[in-house]
Amino acid sequence: MRNIEVYEVGPRDGFQNVKKYIPMEKKIQIIDGLVTAGLEHIQITSFVSPKAIPQMKDARELAEICVKRHSEADFFALVPNLRGAETAWESGIKKVSYVVSLSESHNLANIRRSHEESFAELQKIVKEYSHLDICLDLSTTFGCPFEGEKNEQDVLNFLKPYVDSGIKTVNLCDTIGIANPAQVRKTIKAVSDEYPSLDLQIHIHDTRNMGMVNTLAAIELGVCKVQSTLGGLGGCPYAPGASGNLATEDLVFMLSEMGYDMNIDIPKLIELAKYQAKAIPEGKFSGHLHTIQESRVVCL
Ligand code: COA
Ligand code: ZN
Repeated sequence: MRNIEVYEVGPRDGFQNVKKYIPMEKKIQIIDGLVTAGLEHIQITSFVSPKAIPQMKDARELAEICVKRHSEADFFALVPNLRGAETAWESGIKKVSYVVSLSESHNLANIRRSHEESFAELQKIVKEYSHLDICLDLSTTFGCPFEGEKNEQDVLNFLKPYVDSGIKTVNLCDTIGIANPAQVRKTIKAVSDEYPSLDLQIHIHDTRNMGMVNTLAAIELGVCKVQSTLGGLGGCPYAPGASGNLATEDLVFMLSEMGYDMNIDIPKLIELAKYQAKAIPEGKFSGHLHTIQESRVVCL
């Protein structure tokens, strides 16, 4: 069986949706817990304008502390521009998610850049920080709150210049949780047929309870790196009331029941998700937060 790697993005995608500032010590406690439970790949923060996302104002200090504490972990961070990449590198982060939206209207709303400007900015990052491991995070891959549905041809056309310029990893993001499994299959098949050397990841929001089926559809088509958040913490500014991403503990439970060797301590992960729900009472969670025994009792 292939290895499926879970990429935990809660400390970025989850925390950024919480309005009230979460003290840095609490964030670090949750990141420590994720590492202890066996998660290796964790997006610990984003280096963005604190005016855009005040929650991330502690990014540099948090990253420096976490990198020092867990030198063996594969920590990464989201960046929207050269300035973010510079701060990431200076704080010891070697891997970044460079975010750009398939929909130009969404890119303008989120990053305040046109497609052309975002592409040019990435070329600057590649030139200045050639040792950074860069993943292209393609927001609104499956649909946009402003421009509606996107299809696989839109994705292929958009990716071409990025692939031509040397991008090797792409994370297909269902930013508003609008995708369905047929669309996920079609998109992944089209992208992997057209760009067979691309390393693909999937990032699904659970707005309509489609997180698990869409992620599984991607796995069945060969995707090995899947993103989720502890407790399903998240939300979406363009989908009021939406819950978060697919919950990590639910995903890990499904994959290990299916026979994948996850090497992750599920009871520890569930305890951590419960702790997080108490620590961030205003958070929105899509996870179910049952312990395994509770799940079995619920099933009877
Ligand atoms: N880190 C920290 N501060 C940054 C920054 C970064 N990566 N990039 C810009 N800034 C600061 C600038 O120094 C400036 O500060 P000042 O007003 O005190 O001088 C301010 O932010 C605005 O800078 P500017 O370059 O004019 O950016 P902008 O207003 O055009 O906004 C982004 C562009 C990309 C910086 C901003 O839209 C952003 O951070 N977006 C991220 C949104 C996000 O995280 N969405 C969710 C994840 S997908
Ligand atoms: Zn997201």
